[in-house]
Amino acid sequence: MKTIYSAIQPSGIMTLGNYIGAVDNWHRMQADANNKCIFALADLHTITVRQDPQKFHENAMSFYALLLALGIDPKKSIVYFQSHVQEHAYLSWLLNCYTMVGEMNRMTQFKDKSQKHADNVNMGLMDYPVLMAADILLYNTDEVPVGYDQLQHIEIARDIAERVNGIYGDIFTIPKGVLTKVGAKVMSLQDPLSKMSKSDPNPKSYISVLDDDATIMKKFKSAVTDSETEIRFDPENKPGVSNLLTILAVAQNKSIDEVVKDFDGLMYGHLKVRTGEAVCEMLKPMKEEYNRLIKDEAYLMKCAKEGAEQAHDIAIDTLNRFKKAIGFVTL
Ligand code: TYM
Repeated sequence: MKTIYSAIQPSGIMTLGNYIGAVDNWHRMQADANNKCIFALADLHTITVRQDPQKFHENAMSFYALLLALGIDPKKSIVYFQSHVQEHAYLSWLLNCYTMVGEMNRMTQFKDKSQKHADNVNMGLMDYPVLMAADILLYNTDEVPVGYDQLQHIEIARDIAERVNGIYGDIFTIPKGVLTKVGAKVMSLQDPLSKMSKSDPNPKSYISVLDDDATIMKKFKSAVTDSETEIRFDPENKPGVSNLLTILAVAQNKSIDEVVKDFDGLMYGHLKVRTGEAVCEMLKPMKEEYNRLIKDEAYLMKCAKEGAEQAHDIAIDTLNRFKKAIGFVTL
């Protein structure tokens, strides 16, 4: 059995990038009976950026419902809120003492976010990758399915785990980051050189998985392409067109080559419309399920409670093993 672990932050909205780069891949991995899957809402990570309490609460519930609506099944996988399992914060503290300040200073996302939130460069923002390492290491994780932007954080989790194992013997499983084959970096629709991000101030740059069809079509129609006319997959020279082809391939469950062939003799306008339509089609069943689930708070909370209990049972074992190795007196 392989243990698969991943998480998503319930901040703002869930984008098509989150879905294609991560959650869709979780769904596929969940279908493999050889995988034991654990998925978290990384709500402790979210407060590294200041949140409005009511909005934060609503987002967290909404993201939990979205995960279930997107096919993450609490009967097959453990699906829980990170803040419901206290071992995350505890292990994070322990791992802090095995992590160098210089390592955290070098993290690309920390550097980006410190610039973006210059008025609130709190310790949590810097310590974020250590909490993420704690998430992963608590569950003896073999593989971590993520989008491209999270690979550096998984590398640091491996480094920390190897350092601890080097001192105390085999405490942690060394995790490996895995990317989805197509769509590990979905790009902004307005600036195809940067990744699609929920924190982008321009809403036309991203698709929310809950956008209505008219909004999705409008956003795709205004997607930035280039001044040529040929439809081919060439991320370096044609990032906008290649991004649309990637999204369309995932939405139609085809290879990129197959999708490109369908556009022989057609124009960018056709590509934009077909991509928009395919995305609307792909998201439709999920939206219906989401609208049903979000009204059923009792069911969502029951799943969250069971998920947290299952997660805790695994996490406490790892934490205790590590504490014992360090030499803490146990009661
Ligand atoms: P977050 O919430 O920013 O994103 C969740 C997942 O979505 C992927 N992703 C993308 N993939 C492709 N294209 C994009 N444009 C795109 N945008 C986002 C991310 O790579 C990620 O896989 N720190 C993490 C959450 C986390 C975590 C963990 C992940 C906390 N603990 C432990 C794995 C293991 C984060 O903020 O992801």
